[in-house]
Amino acid sequence: MTYLGVDYYPEHWPKEMMEEDLTGIKGLGANMVRIGEFAWHLMEPEEGKFDFSFFDDVIEQVKQKDMNVMFGTPTATFPAWLADQHPSILSEDEYGNKRVFGGRRQYCFNSDIYRDLAGRITMKLVQHYAGEEAIISWQIDNEFGHEGSDQCYCDQCRAKFHTYLQEKYQTIDELNEEWGTIFWGQTYNAFSEIPVPKPTVTTHNPSLKLEWARFRSVSVNSFTHEMTAIVREFKGNHQSVTTNVSGGFFDKWFDHADNVQVMDYVSYDNYPVWGGLEKPVPPEAIAMTHDFNRGLLDQNYWIVEELMGAQGHDVIGYLPRPNQAKMWSYQAFAHGCSNMLYFRWRGMTKGAEQFCYGVVDHDNVYGRKYKEVQSVFEDIQSYNEVLDSEISSDVAVLYDYDNIWSWRSQIQSKDFDFNEELLRLYRPFYKKNIHIDVIPADRPLESYKVVVVPVMLILDDELAGRLRQFAEQGGTVILSFRAGLKDKSNNLRLGHVLPGPVRDLVGARVEEIESLTTSHNLTLKGHGDYADIPANISVWRDLLVAESADVLYEYTDAFYSDYAAVTKNSFGKGNVYYIGGGLDEAALDEIAATVLNTHRIDTIESDDGVEVYHRNSDGEDYLFVMNHTDQVKTFYNENLDPYESKILRP
Ligand code: GLA
Ligand code: ZN
Repeated sequence: MTYLGVDYYPEHWPKEMMEEDLTGIKGLGANMVRIGEFAWHLMEPEEGKFDFSFFDDVIEQVKQKDMNVMFGTPTATFPAWLADQHPSILSEDEYGNKRVFGGRRQYCFNSDIYRDLAGRITMKLVQHYAGEEAIISWQIDNEFGHEGSDQCYCDQCRAKFHTYLQEKYQTIDELNEEWGTIFWGQTYNAFSEIPVPKPTVTTHNPSLKLEWARFRSVSVNSFTHEMTAIVREFKGNHQSVTTNVSGGFFDKWFDHADNVQVMDYVSYDNYPVWGGLEKPVPPEAIAMTHDFNRGLLDQNYWIVEELMGAQGHDVIGYLPRPNQAKMWSYQAFAHGCSNMLYFRWRGMTKGAEQFCYGVVDHDNVYGRKYKEVQSVFEDIQSYNEVLDSEISSDVAVLYDYDNIWSWRSQIQSKDFDFNEELLRLYRPFYKKNIHIDVIPADRPLESYKVVVVPVMLILDDELAGRLRQFAEQGGTVILSFRAGLKDKSNNLRLGHVLPGPVRDLVGARVEEIESLTTSHNLTLKGHGDYADIPANISVWRDLLVAESADVLYEYTDAFYSDYAAVTKNSFGKGNVYYIGGGLDEAALDEIAATVLNTHRIDTIESDDGVEVYHRNSDGEDYLFVMNHTDQVKTFYNENLDPYESKILRP
């Protein structure tokens, strides 16, 4: 069965509106509501006094409409009495400011008191509803780490950071050696002397910054896993467990694949546009988020918050045009979303999210957006099996959080943005309408034909070995700049000519480097098949000397015209491309086309802005077609109105 519905907050409205609301929700064609994720005080109005009667009534009424429930554990918003009685639970920013009660997720992941009380409400809630047939799934907390909540610099965190370091390094001498604390005379005599990386004069030690990021990840993920274990211990066998991943997952301080490894499935909150943005993020950026979420557990996922109305807290964002939110829903279904809930039934008139518009606005009129959701639910319910069908890809894009955190702690180029550099290499393949997996770098590579490795500066012998084997066996590897620069302690390697452990694969060496900006657009000169394809480079450049590799592009500026910018090395039965900087689209499109052709990977040609995604279910082919533009487009003989989306049978 495909679960379709809305995020519903009955506690936000007079109880007598529930019947009307649930009738309206049912009228969408919905069969599920998500409730409860912010209602801790309602369930525990005073410490140790638990009362689930409100939600007992809600669930009874939902059942009368023959709908199911996803219930959120309410630990993202603790009650005021908790902060008042136990202020130590409040997290602290890098400036030493205790976060005050009033927003959400202001708790410290390393507060033992918080873990006890959060664990208790979670246990009481799940115990109470373990036998409730209508509750088919539990959502753990809400958008872990979002809105800056994955960072805390309090003394509890510092103490646990020291314990984390001691367990990892055994002796302080080992840590001093690995971190290079001799530099600037920072040698520690004891773990207790080590600071959390709060603001200092200039900058902290790179190894400290990376270990702190890893510790943040341990903090968030151990809390997640502790709460999830409680749910698993007390839930009904018919109830599954998930948590909802927020956007901006590469900007977070926790490893998402580690976080969700205890879940039955991943849920994602899909907001292609949010407060203050004058337009949505580009289609390929949305597509990549879906491929990332499908890649977390290597299975299809849910969307438990699909945008329908304009969103924002104090600043509202772009209003989706008619059918544009529906088109984004189709894009999500195409990429592996198997069940979908829209955020939120009706916009709230009070509280911090007055301007997070829902399916129904504050006027309570069932207007365009209501009808748009109805049309999605009506269309999609005849594709249950298709939505559950497996997606397999020939192309994988690899990421690694250690690597991301290293870049975030030292961006090297003022205009460096990891998300943009991953999209730079994702985009040319996306435009060919093929399946792409976006996966952690430690995943097996054998099932792929092409492995794309954006700006992997922390690249150890283990990953190098797997890439080497992959290329030797006929695969194509595409590396981009700064590959192989650092070890797992976030330090450079003495005596290693870059790209370090992958120098033999690349078949070229980096002789010098230059940090560029986005305002640089250094013209390159193409060779061979690339002679007539203009190219330029920005953000960064590695100055390459080809050893066994062919030069595809070289620099043309005065002092460095002898250096290569882009190379291709035949390695084993495969090929290894090295993109020595922020290469622009035309050249990357050509490289992608060549690679896809080499591996005979089927592509689908479509107009700019028209995304096509192939699915196969029980031997039957389906094409999800999305017009991301405000223009009339065609795909083969199909007309596509602005923002129209449809499923075709080729
Ligand atoms: C996030 C949160 C929701 C709500 C929406 C508003 O996804 O999970 O609680 O704040 O954003 O857009
Ligand atoms: Zn803390």
